[in-house]
Amino acid sequence: MINSFHIPVLTKEVLHYLNFKKGGGVYIDCTLGGGGHSKAILKNIYPDGLLIGIDQDIEAIEAAKVELKNFPGKVKLVKGNFKNLEDILSDLKLEAVSGIIFDLGVSSHQLKEKERGFSFREDSHLDMRMDQTQKFDASILINRYTEKELIGVFERYGEERLSKRIARLIVTERQKKPITTTRQLADLVIRALPKTKKRKKWRIHPATRVFQAIRIEVNQELKALEKGLNQAINVLDDKGRICVISYHSLEDRIVKTLFKEVKREGIAQKNYGLKILTKKPIRPSLEEVKKNPKARSAKLRVAEKIIPVT
Ligand SMILES: C[S@@+](CC[C@H](N)C(=O)[O-])C[C@H]1O[C@@H](n2cnc3c(N)ncnc32)[C@H](O)[C@@H]1O
Repeated sequence: MINSFHIPVLTKEVLHYLNFKKGGGVYIDCTLGGGGHSKAILKNIYPDGLLIGIDQDIEAIEAAKVELKNFPGKVKLVKGNFKNLEDILSDLKLEAVSGIIFDLGVSSHQLKEKERGFSFREDSHLDMRMDQTQKFDASILINRYTEKELIGVFERYGEERLSKRIARLIVTERQKKPITTTRQLADLVIRALPKTKKRKKWRIHPATRVFQAIRIEVNQELKALEKGLNQAINVLDDKGRICVISYHSLEDRIVKTLFKEVKREGIAQKNYGLKILTKKPIRPSLEEVKKNPKARSAKLRVAEKIIPVT
């Protein structure tokens, strides 16, 4: 049955690379979502293995509880941020793990649920928090960041060429009335376009990059990714594998660079090494993209930890 919360991406490829061993092992899904990847992993390790599922979104934890109900005693779900992976594992009294997956970004559920405020296609409060207990949301960002800070966010995380024009208009308009809805912001981005672009038929909506940038800043996504990846490699057992699916170049660059860095410097500094198993990232097949267009930008990178015998 299709998971209506989120359709997992590159599942066959992830299962292939996780290279399950006899006797179970501990696997971590750092981005549980609707539990799609977790369920596929559990089918391969049940009943000997254990799956830890982490998500900072309580709605994901609730949905995954239902999705994974047929694997009693073999699933532990944790509401938390993967940037705290080592603490989460030490609370569970776990040390070395056999495999880890990160499937980055937002779930279809988060995008679809109007009141979560992630989408410019719906009109709702400008929210965009993955963790609903966090105070800082997109509306606070848009109304409080200085013009310079806004430009920085749009340039850094959206690679938006019109950052200055958009930030200027936001600052002018918010003096008249606070900007609190997704529609208000999307309309402002369109108003900030130069005349020639306004008349064009867009291939992608002009607010796409600004919304991506705000989402990344609100959830501090790239900082969490760097911390999470480092800790994930630390907690992997010898020959344990890490699979990371990213959806845009900023994420992919962090994964690629970190894998290379640990490969180069790992053994000397940390007493372990890393073998990169995907020289080029794995992309979804045309067949998968046809069935699930959201998979089209996915890139999977995989590495294996090597602990030298001393
Ligand atoms: C693309 S979805 C994962 C979908 C999942 N693989 C599935 O099959 O249903 C990404 C999920 O990761 C969560 N997430 C993103 N960043 C996180 C972080 N730093 N810590 C914990 N969860 C995070 C989001 O809340 C979202 O539910």
